[in-house]
Amino acid sequence: MEEIKIPAHVGIIMDGNGRWAQARGKKRSYGHHAGSANVDRIVTHAFSRGVKALTLYAFSSENWARPKEEVDELMKLLKTYFKKFIKKVVKNDVRLIVVGGKEQLSEDLIKVIEDGENSSRENSGHILNIAINYGGRQEIVHAVNELIKSGEEVTVENISRKLYTAESGEPDLIIRTGGEYRLSNFLLYQGAYSELYFTDVLWPDFDEQELDKAITAFGSRKRRFGKV
Ligand code: FPP
Repeated sequence: MEEIKIPAHVGIIMDGNGRWAQARGKKRSYGHHAGSANVDRIVTHAFSRGVKALTLYAFSSENWARPKEEVDELMKLLKTYFKKFIKKVVKNDVRLIVVGGKEQLSEDLIKVIEDGENSSRENSGHILNIAINYGGRQEIVHAVNELIKSGEEVTVENISRKLYTAESGEPDLIIRTGGEYRLSNFLLYQGAYSELYFTDVLWPDFDEQELDKAITAFGSRKRRFGKV
């Protein structure tokens, strides 16, 4: 088989859970459950394909405006996810990092997140960034404030070093499922030269073959980073 180029860092906007559930006559939370189960499948497959770092958009800083019932359900799912998959992640040499403003999350969610981060800190095979209460603009403001606090110069490189995802490098590929063509405040700074891949497939249906299609599409792109 011809060798294909594998993106080192992939970001995913996991959109379409609600529509997936509605198409089945179910409540939106049913879609979030299916979407959550899909996270495990895609993380496993991406790392087995040689992707080094994955950044998943689980909850944006704007998602708090959804009905309370849905927000509560998503928070519950995240807690369950961390509890259930931590062991697996740690065993597979994956370092878990939660990116976004943790201070607004509930104490018990923060506790399971920190357990996961602490127990995987020494892992170096892969990085799994989960974006919760994350916004790209907020991340840039946070990075600049960090520089100001430490008296460092505000430069392009220094801002990059202070981003939540600094250890993963810039995303080579950003995938958005669910048929919308926008970034929705995801990885705005580090995504400056990312290749973008949009698909109509809804997140719970985005399986291993769909990820392979995105990786293959990435392999055929010519990246010029602003040069000729
Ligand atoms: C978008 O679908 C999805 C979200 C806002 C949440 C993403 C969350 C998960 C995939 C589950 C939990 C995550 C982890 C890491 C366990 P939508 O509700 O906007 O769908 P719609 O566009 O069809 O309404």
